[in-house]
Amino acid sequence: MDHRDHVELLRGGVPGAGGTWADLGCGRGAFTLALAELLEPGATIHAIDRDRGVLRDLERAMAARFEGVIVRPAVGDFTRSLDLPPLDGIVLANSLHFQRDLEAVARHVGGWIRPGGRLIVVEYDTDTGNPWVPHPFSFRTWVDVAEWIGLRDVRLIGRVPSRFLGAIYSAAAAVPEAPPDG
Ligand SMILES: C[S@@+](CC[C@H](N)C(=O)[O-])C[C@H]1O[C@@H](n2cnc3c(N)ncnc32)[C@H](O)[C@@H]1O
Repeated sequence: MDHRDHVELLRGGVPGAGGTWADLGCGRGAFTLALAELLEPGATIHAIDRDRGVLRDLERAMAARFEGVIVRPAVGDFTRSLDLPPLDGIVLANSLHFQRDLEAVARHVGGWIRPGGRLIVVEYDTDTGNPWVPHPFSFRTWVDVAEWIGLRDVRLIGRVPSRFLGAIYSAAAAVPEAPPDG
């Protein structure tokens, strides 16, 4: 996969405009770069990873390519509490499959998204893991989990073949708007 593929995997789930997003488990920033291309100048992306080393590579790549989007790299573990403002959206690309309890972690990070915001996952489309990808979850499984934890409008954005584990998909889900007062 190249940068174009990464952009296309996110495009259908990013409404454009500015806003405040987080890429959780961003690694060297393949999807941070894609997200930056889809957001307008002035947007902020909190790029979070527990591995400090990969964030240095990400910072270099971002500075060279997307001056208009503010990227704030930070070391952190998204299964714990993080110092983040309310988010318009979260990207979790190939990072949730390290978590044994998908439902608990998705519910936890979903709580950082403001009503009406988006959660995008990019994952291998299988429920069978291996030592490198221990807990992948198929789109079918994600629909059930996402709806169970209260996300809405879960839909497939894209799916690309992968020599490793068959295919990678991306899916968007929405945090429901807050009910009107009274
Ligand atoms: C397979 S890489 C994916 C990187 C990038 N999102 C991509 O798709 O190219 C997974 C990344 O998630 C990070 N990660 C896994 N669990 C994490 C956690 N609980 N908190 C923060 N980062 C985590 C790892 O350090 C690693 O950089």
